[in-house]
Amino acid sequence: MPARLFLSSGDLIADRRFDFARDLQLKGDIAAAADLLLQTIELAPNFTTAWFTLGGIREALGEHEAAIAAFRAAQASDPGDRHGAGLRLMRLGDAPLAGMPRAYVQALFDQYAPRFESALIDDLGYRGPALLFKAVLSVRAAAKKPAFFKRGIDLGCGTGLVATAFAKGVDHFFGIDLSPRMIEKSRATGLYADLEVADMLQGLRGRPDASADLILAADTMIYVDDIAPLLVEAARVLSAGGLLAFTAETHGGEGVILGAGLRYAHAAEYVRAAVEAAGLTMPLLEDRSARNEDHVPVPGLVVVAAKT
Ligand SMILES: C[S@@+](CC[C@H](N)C(=O)[O-])C[C@H]1O[C@@H](n2cnc3c(N)ncnc32)[C@H](O)[C@@H]1O
Repeated sequence: MPARLFLSSGDLIADRRFDFARDLQLKGDIAAAADLLLQTIELAPNFTTAWFTLGGIREALGEHEAAIAAFRAAQASDPGDRHGAGLRLMRLGDAPLAGMPRAYVQALFDQYAPRFESALIDDLGYRGPALLFKAVLSVRAAAKKPAFFKRGIDLGCGTGLVATAFAKGVDHFFGIDLSPRMIEKSRATGLYADLEVADMLQGLRGRPDASADLILAADTMIYVDDIAPLLVEAARVLSAGGLLAFTAETHGGEGVILGAGLRYAHAAEYVRAAVEAAGLTMPLLEDRSARNEDHVPVPGLVVVAAKT
C-alpha cells in the first residue's frame, strides 16, 4: 500500500502531536492515540489528517457514531476529500453509494506511483494486463481475425503495464489517467503516442466517434461505481468491429458494492446489463481474478465487449 497521506495542519505543534499519536497507534495503544488526537484537534480544528486518523481508530474501537462524526469532520475540512473520508462513511452505512472523489484517486496514485509496480506485481500478484491480452487474443481467434489494432486507448493507464502487454499488437496507444505521477511513469515507457491527465470518462468524451479499434481498462473499473456512462462513451469512440476489454472485481449479490478494500465490485449481471445497454455485444465474460489479497485471489471478471 502507498504511504499514508499526510496533510499538514499548518501548526507545527499540532503536527508534532499528531506524529506522537501515530506512534502510539502503531504501537497498538489506540485508546491513548485517540485521546492525543482529540488534543491535537483542539489545537487545529480543521486538521483533516487528524480527524481521518481518529475516524479509523474509532471504527477499530467499535465506536460507530464517533467514527462517523470524525470522518464527517475530515470530509468537511477538505472539500476535495483527498483522504477518501466519504468512502469510509459509505462503508459505515452513513452515506449512499456514490463515486470516488477525484482528489482522493489522484492523491492515492500520485503517492503510489514510485512503488506501484513492485507493490502490485510482487505483493499482490497482479495480472490484469495479461488477463486482458489473453482475453482479446481468444476473442479475435474465435472471430478468425488477427489481434492487431491501429488505435488503442488505455483507460487508467497507470505506469503503462497494459501498453507493455499489448506492445506488439497496437500501433498507437493513447493513455488516460487521473494521476500526473502515474502518467509520468507511462510516458517514460515510450509506448504511448499520446497521454492525458484526465478522468477517463472526460478523456473519452474528448475523443471523436469511431476513433479507436481497441479500448482497454485493467483494474480501473474498480474505481468507478456506475460504469454504464463509460461503456456508452466507449461504444461511441469504438470503430465498427472494435473491442472494449476490461477487468472488474465482483461479488455474489446484485448491483454494485464498495468492498472493504475501498474498491467497487460489480455483479456479473450488472456488467452484462450495462454492456447491453451501451449497444455492445459481449463475446467474453469470465470469472478471473486480477490480484490477490491476503494471498487469496480477489473475485473478479474479465470482459470483452464488441461493437458490431
Ligand atoms: C490499479 S491502477 C491500474 C493501472 C494500469 N491499468 C495497470 O493495469 O497497471 C488504477 C489506475 O487507474 C487510475 N484511475 C482510477 N480512477 C480513474 C478515473 N476515474 N479516471 C482516470 N484514471 C483513473 C488510477 O490513477 C491508477 O493509475
